[in-house]
Amino acid sequence: MNDSSIEILEPESIRSLRGRTPDGLMAETYACDISWEDNTQERGFLKCFSSSRSLGVVNELTGYLIAKACGLPVPKRAAVVQLNQSLIDSMNIKNCPEGVYRYAFAVSESPGRSPNSIYAGLPAALAATATREILKGWRGLSPLMAFDDWAANQDRNLGNFLIDEKGEIFIIDHSNMPVGICWTADSLAPEGRFRNILIEIMTLGGSAPIEEGFVVRAAERHPDVYHSIKDELRPWWQAFLGNDPSRRAAIESFFQNRSENGSDRLSQKLSTMPV
Ligand SMILES: Nc1ncnc2c1ncn2[C@@H]1O[C@H](COP(=O)(O)OP(=O)(O)OP(=O)(O)O)[C@@H](O)[C@H]1O
Ligand SMILES: [Mg+2]
Repeated sequence: MNDSSIEILEPESIRSLRGRTPDGLMAETYACDISWEDNTQERGFLKCFSSSRSLGVVNELTGYLIAKACGLPVPKRAAVVQLNQSLIDSMNIKNCPEGVYRYAFAVSESPGRSPNSIYAGLPAALAATATREILKGWRGLSPLMAFDDWAANQDRNLGNFLIDEKGEIFIIDHSNMPVGICWTADSLAPEGRFRNILIEIMTLGGSAPIEEGFVVRAAERHPDVYHSIKDELRPWWQAFLGNDPSRRAAIESFFQNRSENGSDRLSQKLSTMPV
């Protein structure tokens, strides 16, 4: 038990590893059953990183906690999982000479399918246009654009959110943020301007169905959101980055600093966009 909404699970909590998902590039993601701390068993996904991409775990938990605090639809449960050799062996991971990082990130299954899977076979621009029609009416659109800006998440591609039959959206995959999976202290420049794929999808083809005021207002909540979640984030950052003081300091000042000027950054970005 720990005080966080992210659980810490033993390798034995991962039951019946099923197949590796086809779309993972940064990690090896496996469908599985997960036995959670309260002993309920549910379908979920286990995301394992190579040693050189070990930051993927701290990135995932940071994204999960902040997105959840923003009221965004993350998976219901998340955990850091300690791996052991027999679990790693059962994954049959190929092409990982440097070895598998000893912690993995697990989430419960969310409903729906990613646009990549729904529109498989369509040219990318058509898939994006079709997705845009669904996202247009979604109440979470502005908060998600603002969150991706805050977190410098440059990876909200058509594989990283799910749409269910009712048109509800669920977000996944924060391993590539802030900035990129293998960020350094220097790469976390709080004043940086980063790619926002969701804004690109919504402005594809010129017309811009973005309600700038809603996005800016969503960003105005970020200082309070950060304040509400920072005490939960700090022990995780300390645990995973405590032996790397420059990264440890950089992640905290990046998120705090960007929470304070997101509305300016976004009004600038959106008002200078070609329409
Ligand atoms: N919580 C979830 N609910 C349903 N499906 C999920 C969930 N998490 C992951 N998946 C499935 O697994 C696939 C891969 O997961 P994810 O996008 O997190 O990692 P990845 O693509 O391997 O990592 P990366 O994008 O960093 O390379 C997703 O495209 C989705 O099909
Ligand atoms: Mg992904």
